[in-house]
Amino acid sequence: MIPVSTDAPTALVVGGSGMVGAALTSALASSSGGGWRVRPTSRVARGDRVRLDLFDPASIVDAVRQTSPSTIVLAVDGAARAAELERDPSHADALFVAGTRAVVDAARGLGARVVLLSTDLVFAGTDGPYGEHDAPRPCTVVGTRKAAAEEIVLSLGSEGLVARTSEVFGWDPASPNLAMEVWRRAGTGRPVVASRTWQVTPTAVQDVASGVAAAVRAELSGVVHIAGAESRSRFDLAADLATALGIDPSMVVDGAEWLQDGGREVRLGLSTGELQATTSWRPTAQREAVRLLRGASRQAVRASTADASAEAAALRDEILERVERHHALAHAARPFEPLRSRVPYAGRVFGADEVVSAVDASLDFWLTLGPRGAEFEQALCDRIGAPDAVFVNSGSSANLTAMLTLTSERCPDRLRLHPGDEVVTPAVTFPTTLAPVVQCGLVPVLVDCEIGTYNADPAALEAALSPKTRALLLPHTLGNPYDMAAVMEIVRAHDLVLVEDCCDALGARFDGRPVGTFGTLATLSFYPAHHITTGEGGAVVVNDRRLERVVRSVRDWGRDCWCPPGESNTCGRRFGWQLGELPCGYDHKYVYSTLGYNFKPTDIQAAIGTVQLSRLPEFHARRQHNFSRLHEGLLRYEQLVLPRAVPGAAPAWFAFPITVRDGTSRDRLVQWLERRNIETRQVFAGNILRQPAYRDIERRVPAPLTNSDRVMHDTFFIGVYPGLTDVMIDFVLEQFDEFFAGRDG
Ligand SMILES: Cc1ncc(COP(=O)(O)O)c(C=O)c1O
Repeated sequence: MIPVSTDAPTALVVGGSGMVGAALTSALASSSGGGWRVRPTSRVARGDRVRLDLFDPASIVDAVRQTSPSTIVLAVDGAARAAELERDPSHADALFVAGTRAVVDAARGLGARVVLLSTDLVFAGTDGPYGEHDAPRPCTVVGTRKAAAEEIVLSLGSEGLVARTSEVFGWDPASPNLAMEVWRRAGTGRPVVASRTWQVTPTAVQDVASGVAAAVRAELSGVVHIAGAESRSRFDLAADLATALGIDPSMVVDGAEWLQDGGREVRLGLSTGELQATTSWRPTAQREAVRLLRGASRQAVRASTADASAEAAALRDEILERVERHHALAHAARPFEPLRSRVPYAGRVFGADEVVSAVDASLDFWLTLGPRGAEFEQALCDRIGAPDAVFVNSGSSANLTAMLTLTSERCPDRLRLHPGDEVVTPAVTFPTTLAPVVQCGLVPVLVDCEIGTYNADPAALEAALSPKTRALLLPHTLGNPYDMAAVMEIVRAHDLVLVEDCCDALGARFDGRPVGTFGTLATLSFYPAHHITTGEGGAVVVNDRRLERVVRSVRDWGRDCWCPPGESNTCGRRFGWQLGELPCGYDHKYVYSTLGYNFKPTDIQAAIGTVQLSRLPEFHARRQHNFSRLHEGLLRYEQLVLPRAVPGAAPAWFAFPITVRDGTSRDRLVQWLERRNIETRQVFAGNILRQPAYRDIERRVPAPLTNSDRVMHDTFFIGVYPGLTDVMIDFVLEQFDEFFAGRDG
């Protein structure tokens, strides 16, 4: 609820219970919209709604008298019902013409301003998009009635404003707009008919609301246009909306619509010169508007888990408030006591927000992956700048999902890997980076790494290729990016598939571009040691849209069906497919087209992840700070090889790797640090071919793994994670000083 001062001007929003009216009501009431006291109307009075029936002139007079508005907005959602009104001209007459006249008469008596929401249907539809100065030339029932209503409002002179819109869409299950038509039809399995030859400038409902608020604030009169910036056909718009709502876009079929009698092309749509010239309002880009719609639809699914009564909602608030208090007491930072307190190499860093979010999700008791998972996946896409990200239950599952996707029958031929194909990857690695390669029947080609970067030299990668090589699998070791310019050249020159293991590298960049966006697929881990955590958890980043459904199928038991959790039949053909040798109409929910598993995490994990992800920049800055301090403090020891990045790389350091030079014992240094409670780790498996499980795997090793063996003997890492304070880093550096001063006994 937005508080408004009692002397704020009042706006009466006629049609306030429709989608546009509701958006407008909150836009005008918001402080940026003007902080109005807004009174929406509805045909039945309830709550703060004023009774007003446009077919009943007496109710209009009553509503105006009761609220004494300084502005009346006529937001009667006519255009979306246009096809219906076309068949019933007398209804359109009463709604638009007589209703508007009664409102304008009442406003005149009071000196109030009137804003009419109108439509591009007042134009003939031959020359769109239309500007504010183009003369209306209506040729439909709705168009002529709306044009008449415009005349009535414009007769108010400086007190009248006509705001035209074009093809408004938004999330409101009660609204007949195209997005909701797509949504409803998908549920029934009937196709949505939308024309390829009907041009509009689709307008997000929130743009209509902010546009009207801007025009009212600027006290504009006459005609303004409020519309999206891009011209699209209704067919393309419907297909975009379907994709955003997780519905198969082939549900949308091309066909003539009511305005096209005679098969003519329709060129409607509006340009928005006036409003952009006189206010700071700008339309949202279509892509972003569709993304917001997707967010709103997911919020709505989530709201279905909301508390069923006011008492339950109040209890939830109380619980969450207590959780916050509990967190402050139970997880307060403890003072660091040198030698006694541990200096961890990594750990979860979380605040009250993460715990509150986890408990909030627990109260929903959705349990499996649901709406909060979808929200987290969207947040990951936005953060990384990738088309899709699929949340899984670990980084290891992410790596296996990636390999099962690329070896699946459903993988497009150009990307598909077959048993016996070679995958070039470094020998210093994490076991579950390599295990999926072996398990999928692919042959790893193991290359040596460089000391300092702990990545393979791109020249070594290229030298390792053979005619059988089809892919590169590159973990950005400890958050340190590969030279991606060189890697991408190799990928292109040899037509390879690239998979990036970014489990230790979320937030790292090369030439300004996030790692994880270079490969066809990339993987992430959210285990507590990593850059953000969901407890157990990981993700597959999908940069090739053709693989989205395959990745999700592998994660979701291998099934062919792509319905989101809690839904069935979004393809509208659940019992209508004929696939392979299955009986015709076999339930699509039980058709399996990949060798998948259940790699799904829970909604509770997703709830934690969304909060953690929003803190990534803060975490990243602290990791960087700790790394720089250690680097500065240790630079003077020639006995140590310090970590380095290649030009263009901006690492997101997972840890601080150190290799000792000849004459210094890694093991003595490590034991010295560990005795002082400073945690150390080795670089994962070291040369993995020395590990018992990997000794006998089928592989090719084109060149000696000299540095990989050295890593096993001479390298270790200490922490840089955001839980380390300056006092801890000072202590760590002092212990190195003591060691090199010869006090290690
Ligand atoms: C490079 C790399 N890949 C994969 C994984 C596996 O991630 P998870 O522990 O979430 O299974 C890790 C784990 O630390 C890792 O460092």
